[in-house]
Amino acid sequence: MQVRKAVIPAAGLGTRFLPITKAVPKELLPILDRPMLQYVVEEAAEAGVEEVIVVTARGKESIASYFQPRPDLEARLAEAGSADLLESIRHVSTLADVSFVIQEEPLGLGHAVLTARNAVGHEPFVVILPDDIVHHQPGVISQMLEVSAQHQAGVIAVEQVPWETIHNYGVVDAEERGARTHFIKQLVEKPAREDAPSNLSIVGRYILPPEIFDCLERTPPGARGEIQLTDGIQLLLEQQDVYAYEFLGTRYDGGAPMGLLRASLEFGMAREDTGDAVRALVREIAGQLEQD
Ligand code: G1P
Repeated sequence: MQVRKAVIPAAGLGTRFLPITKAVPKELLPILDRPMLQYVVEEAAEAGVEEVIVVTARGKESIASYFQPRPDLEARLAEAGSADLLESIRHVSTLADVSFVIQEEPLGLGHAVLTARNAVGHEPFVVILPDDIVHHQPGVISQMLEVSAQHQAGVIAVEQVPWETIHNYGVVDAEERGARTHFIKQLVEKPAREDAPSNLSIVGRYILPPEIFDCLERTPPGARGEIQLTDGIQLLLEQQDVYAYEFLGTRYDGGAPMGLLRASLEFGMAREDTGDAVRALVREIAGQLEQD
């Protein structure tokens, strides 16, 4: 599948980050020094995506500001000779063509994706959930595009999780078909542990055909009374094959404070410009703990 567009659902309330999400959209909280949203837009751009459609909600307008150019700030940074900072703010607005659609009511992830229907049109697209952050080169979307091309089908990212956490996720029942790749027979959103068909949980990366939109139109509210993307994909299975792919890389839960803290430390250690300083910081803290 040739994929040019990405949908990024970013309309949620960010309850696990209250109270800060009263004023700042969760998607703009930083991992080290960049908003988590930027990591996923970079991942999409790296995979060849040209257009990013962010599904947002009223009160989250600062997400749009983040991607707009700021000529006044650029002029000041140029004057001050801050070449690196100038490059960093320009980089954001050149990553992809970013547009926005508003989800008027919080009716679920499936409904958020459906809100982007007109913006996507009749072509395959990717969905990226910005609080699932994965550290790997190549990025997860690039890895999934290869699997999609190989099978000429939609692909969902999955990973094995401990059984006691399975109720937090969408789960697939699938048959192995080659390295890291599984043919999906069934999907269930947030099953109780005893009802989960496996411990392969869905991670927020999907390559989907446009037929998903008709399926989402027909999807009744499911888990938590919301229209679930997982349930829409279950309907899609009646017409098309969909594969699950166990990606290479580590997933961080950017939707929760501890996940974001861990991602900041690990990304900081991996980055050339911050690696030494972050390692020194972690050692210092570990040393203090030893003395306690
Ligand atoms: C969503 C999806 C779920 C998936 C999860 C991954 O759930 O509905 O299938 O496993 O993202 O992060 P949420 O975390 O929005 O409740």
